[in-house]
Amino acid sequence: MSVGYSAVQWSHHKRVYDAIAAGAAAGYIAAFLAIGKVLWHGQHAISDEILVMRALGSCAIVLLHVILCIGPLARLDARFLPVLYNRRHLGVMTFLIALSHAALAIGYYHGFGVVNPAYSLLTSSASINSFASFPFEWLGLGALLIMFLMASTSHDFWLRNLSSRTWKRLHMLVYVAYALLIGHVALGALQTNRGDLAPILMGLGLLLVCGLHLAAARREHAIDRGQNPATSNSETWLDAGPVASIPKSRARSVCAPGGERIAVFRHAGGVSAVTNTCAHQGGPLSEGRVIDGCITCPWHGWQYKPGDGCSPPPFQEKIATYQIRIVQGRAEVNTRPLPPGTPVEPARLGESDLAGAYGEGLHV
Ligand code: HEM
Ligand code: FES
Repeated sequence: MSVGYSAVQWSHHKRVYDAIAAGAAAGYIAAFLAIGKVLWHGQHAISDEILVMRALGSCAIVLLHVILCIGPLARLDARFLPVLYNRRHLGVMTFLIALSHAALAIGYYHGFGVVNPAYSLLTSSASINSFASFPFEWLGLGALLIMFLMASTSHDFWLRNLSSRTWKRLHMLVYVAYALLIGHVALGALQTNRGDLAPILMGLGLLLVCGLHLAAARREHAIDRGQNPATSNSETWLDAGPVASIPKSRARSVCAPGGERIAVFRHAGGVSAVTNTCAHQGGPLSEGRVIDGCITCPWHGWQYKPGDGCSPPPFQEKIATYQIRIVQGRAEVNTRPLPPGTPVEPARLGESDLAGAYGEGLHV
């Protein structure tokens, strides 16, 4: 949501976030090196280069797990939303750490011969015909290339130029990178006799990522099932529940029969409905709040006016709005989306509509 280009749109929050993330990564690497020195000694001793390589590789993989887990965690519990904010910075940091790991590995294992290290990486492998001897480094290389693609297109400039749908598809490749890395770590351990610890931890990480995604999907499915489409005058109106149960300046999300999610906000004595999908990166607007009279996305803070779905000046983003009405204290949304930026008068609340709403009056 910028009117001009800037490399990183720094804010106090982003600086604090990045400082904490970088501090945690540095702390992890330092701890890994210290513990590694103690663990791998005597006949199991490894060189300092391999120790650093392992510290960087495992740090990158831990960060990747954090990135993959915070999406579903934030859906399950709003307290994780601050971690979700600026997830892209975490992604770029993960790529840089993984790149250092790969550079060290290529230099150490392929840099002392007469051929170019990159050529050696691509040609010196055992065999691609058998699973057990498949070059595990290639899998790491594939993942690194995907991470590079994602890190280099992470700026809003690319989001705007590629369209948010293409951008999102591109960034879904993170799951392909994750699958390649599972192979990289598991096969690598098998081929280099590094023991079972890394593959076991990777397996536990996979269970965690899958478990959280399934739990978040189940929760959303349960919310969608709890809705009750009410039809009138051949147009479909969706029951969004009692207005009084929508917290002040917050929203409830409802799902139209076609699968489109709609966010119903209660604000300034009325209710308004807009698409649940933020124009930036598809963040769930219903998990945001009305701040300074604008719906504010929980992910990166883009804002839209509830009455017309337009961002406040000088910004120019627009999202779809929906007609809304109140019937016997319940909000009902017309499931037909209006073109982005279409003004819709908020449905006004009467005193009786808010009976039992945390004892509040109309000024909400
Ligand atoms: C060109 C790309 C890559 C190359 C050549 C490469 C190379 C290697 C090598 C040689 C090892 C074994 C190190 C040892 O001797 O113990 C290794 C392990 C590992 N790599 Fe990579 N790697 C690449 C990309 C990546 C990426 C992108 C990640 C993560 C984001 C990653 C994560 C790991 C992990 C977690 C281990 C296991 C460390 C351990 O056992 O403690 N690698 N890699
Ligand atoms: S997804 Fe980034 S601000 Fe909404």
